[in-house]
Amino acid sequence: MTSKELRNLFLKFFEDKGHKIVKASPLVSTDSSVLFTTAGMQQFKPYYSGVLDPFKDIHPFLLTPLNSLNVCSIQKCLRTSDIDEVGDESHLTFFEMLGNFSFGGYFKKEAISYAWEFVKDYLQIDLSRIEITVFNGEKEIPKDEESYKIWLELGIPQEKIIFKGREDNFWGPTGKEGPCGPTSEIYVDGVEIWNLVFNEYFQYEDKKLEKLKTKGIDTGAGLERMLKAVQKEKIETIFETDLFKPLIEEIQKQTNLSYYSSPKPYRIIADHLKGIVFLIAEGIEPSNIDRGYVLRRLIRRAQRYANYLSLKDNWYESLVLKVIEMYKEFYPEIDQAPKIISVLNEELSKFQKLLKEGLKILKKEIEKLKTQEINDQVLANLVFKMYESFGFPIELTLEELKISFKTIDEELVKNKVQEFFKIHQEISKKGATKKFGGHGIDISKVEAGDEEEIIKTKLHSATHLLHQALIDVLGNEVKQMGSDINFERARFDFSYSGKITNEEIKKIEEIVNSKIKQALPVFFKEMSKEEALKINAKAFFKEKYPEIVKVYFMGQDENSAYSKEFCGGPHVKNTKEIGNFRIIKVESIGEGIKRIRAKIF
Ligand code: GLY
Repeated sequence: MTSKELRNLFLKFFEDKGHKIVKASPLVSTDSSVLFTTAGMQQFKPYYSGVLDPFKDIHPFLLTPLNSLNVCSIQKCLRTSDIDEVGDESHLTFFEMLGNFSFGGYFKKEAISYAWEFVKDYLQIDLSRIEITVFNGEKEIPKDEESYKIWLELGIPQEKIIFKGREDNFWGPTGKEGPCGPTSEIYVDGVEIWNLVFNEYFQYEDKKLEKLKTKGIDTGAGLERMLKAVQKEKIETIFETDLFKPLIEEIQKQTNLSYYSSPKPYRIIADHLKGIVFLIAEGIEPSNIDRGYVLRRLIRRAQRYANYLSLKDNWYESLVLKVIEMYKEFYPEIDQAPKIISVLNEELSKFQKLLKEGLKILKKEIEKLKTQEINDQVLANLVFKMYESFGFPIELTLEELKISFKTIDEELVKNKVQEFFKIHQEISKKGATKKFGGHGIDISKVEAGDEEEIIKTKLHSATHLLHQALIDVLGNEVKQMGSDINFERARFDFSYSGKITNEEIKKIEEIVNSKIKQALPVFFKEMSKEEALKINAKAFFKEKYPEIVKVYFMGQDENSAYSKEFCGGPHVKNTKEIGNFRIIKVESIGEGIKRIRAKIF
């Protein structure tokens, strides 16, 4: 079976079971608490918690309601948590997830029966290769006897059903909070191929669990792993499927080192290149923060393994074309070879220069160290200095040190380097990654800190749009009285004596969302307070402003800008970065003062 056949088989199967096929969401996540889409359920998160109604509310990017309680999709995903595992037999950063989802349409019985019917009758995988896991219960969450019974009734022998704890059989939430629940998983030849999540809970940021009003189903089946499992002729790894083989062959044309003698660099290059192509196609550019940083890390890591295989200078060109050829039918958005290659050209020429210069400096430093007594502290210091001052990759410094100092305890040095980073990050609040290039530090740590700031910035920009939309709908009586933004929501207080109707709230939301969709540039200008008031920039009346103020504009230019506001920033660069805006509460907090709470997702 080919990947194309498997994708079609899956979608057709669930369509026949009453599921609406929904296209993949972008890799740049619609869930603002994570950088990337890491699971198929993410675009459906608001439906599980009841924030969006599948029949009434507009889906964030389909721009129509879903009109179904049951949906299925094939989702491109990017997970960076396993980046160091890539190169083994089953870990990937870029992959596709097959999934069926339900928000109150069906629950365990149907979800398990559908999955089993698909695996047994459509994929025709023999029972002898199968194992099932079920949640064993932990603390307040009970053991999943119901799923166990359903599997038994479907004919799975008792000894093939294994109970496991929360570590293995509980999934989610993605990001800081969201729907989650116990799982039941299908294993083939010892590898998990399908995760059935029974969304019964909503987990808050403080880890508190609350029962969801409506139980939901969220499943995820890795396309690559499932494809491997269904091959007629037994293959050893996912890298022998048509989702990798063409890339491996393309790399093989450029090197004398064979895939079978050193598969790891081949696999890393193939995997990372897919992520690179999809990310650049979505408009991400390499940089030192956030998504751009992840892209930079993938590119540089791929280059290092390309160096290892002594691939030619423009090794990536034919591979980019191959990735596009393999995926463009299903993901037409990636058909942008010239742009992708040009971003790579520029980024890699910078990286090669950095490597060359950095290596020269490092060699000198190593010579100096050879005349001294060394210990892990001294070596870690050099690793950190190379990174901090020159953006030189941590792994490369370590590799050079290993060559020169054969007895070095790598783990010890790495731990020390992490310590340096911690201290450094505490000193400069934003952390080293903001300032310096390179890679090698734990991405998950970088993401967690920065992500809150990004969301706060987005919410801040959203309140500017909200401010103007309130005036549009409610009139000039609206004056800002206060605003408070944290990671979860924006709070906006303003003067208004009337009652605000549901229609007006809807209207305000619509205006804000339409301004987000119009992708208005956000920029500021410094001007005298007088001039700012003349152009009618909104000010917060309680505040005393200096003579020269910063005014933020959201619009194509100063004259036509939708929003003009006295403000110190920071803001998003373009309103489209904000995502989806939703008012969650309107209340009266005093005589003539109203308070709005709003979220983005
Ligand atoms: N959302 C289920 C999974 O990613 O496994």
